[in-house]
Amino acid sequence: MVTTSIKPTESSPPSYALGYTNAEHERLIRQAARIAPVTERLFREAGIGRGQRVLDLGSGVGDVAMLVAQIVGPSGEVLGIERDASSIARAKARVAEAGLRNVSFTQTDVNQTVSEKPFDAAVGRFILMFLPDPVSVLGSVVQLVRPGGVLAFQEPSWIPMLALGAGLPLWSRTRHLIHETLLRSGANREMGLALYRVFQEAGLPAPKMHLEMPLGSDTDFIRLTSDLLCSLRPLAEQHKVSLKELGDLDALPDRICAEVAAANTVVSLIAVVGAWSRKPIYSSSPRTP
Ligand SMILES: C[S@@+](CC[C@H](N)C(=O)[O-])C[C@H]1O[C@@H](n2cnc3c(N)ncnc32)[C@H](O)[C@@H]1O
Repeated sequence: MVTTSIKPTESSPPSYALGYTNAEHERLIRQAARIAPVTERLFREAGIGRGQRVLDLGSGVGDVAMLVAQIVGPSGEVLGIERDASSIARAKARVAEAGLRNVSFTQTDVNQTVSEKPFDAAVGRFILMFLPDPVSVLGSVVQLVRPGGVLAFQEPSWIPMLALGAGLPLWSRTRHLIHETLLRSGANREMGLALYRVFQEAGLPAPKMHLEMPLGSDTDFIRLTSDLLCSLRPLAEQHKVSLKELGDLDALPDRICAEVAAANTVVSLIAVVGAWSRKPIYSSSPRTP
């Protein structure tokens, strides 16, 4: 019997850039479906496999945890950490619907994760970018992983995506305003490349890394961009990022789709940087700056 004790979240969670509406949950699920092959490649390359016990940080509505559950199989287990109750409720319902018995979730802040039994691996996708001190969180998580265990994270890089879409004025403008909103909220849009430094400062060997960009031209794929803007609208307002130049926001998805179709091209969803490393067998402490 595995005992994992988690310190409960003591107060209501701080605000989070993308919010927790049903629409945002649906967007996360549709985005996850497009990125799943990239995430699975990273985890398999990192050596995550059958029978392992894996910690997933910032689980959202459970997509990464469910993907890992398939990789580790019924003899393995996954614990997802998420601070939002509505996301966890959705994640648990999806896990039950998928018939997965090896996944559980705990509502807490990633800063407060503790476990009596070490994990074989800790993973996360699009979580470190939202944390004020990712080095300290990763450093604590390293302590929860057994020596020789795996740390594997995926975070975004916006620079290649913005560069590739430069020929599409409306799509580009929309992406730049999303970027500006995230920038003003304090989220790190370039956390992907920063993983190289963050891993080492958390006491890990320099990670193996790669960057992948899912590309597409179908309506559902393109709409993920306008859906992201929808989730960020309250934050854009709060940080005084004007969306007026985009014109009619209700018609924005159709207008962007028409622009992409007229150019007969593909757009990117996000450039995903994957990084993985193994905890040294012999202990090392996090580097001090
Ligand atoms: C962009 S979503 C990613 C969800 C999932 N990893 C995926 O890729 O589909 C980030 C999630 O991290 C959670 N989160 C952000 N900061 C957190 C923190 N300090 N502790 C726990 N969860 C956090 C948010 O509530 C949100 O559900």
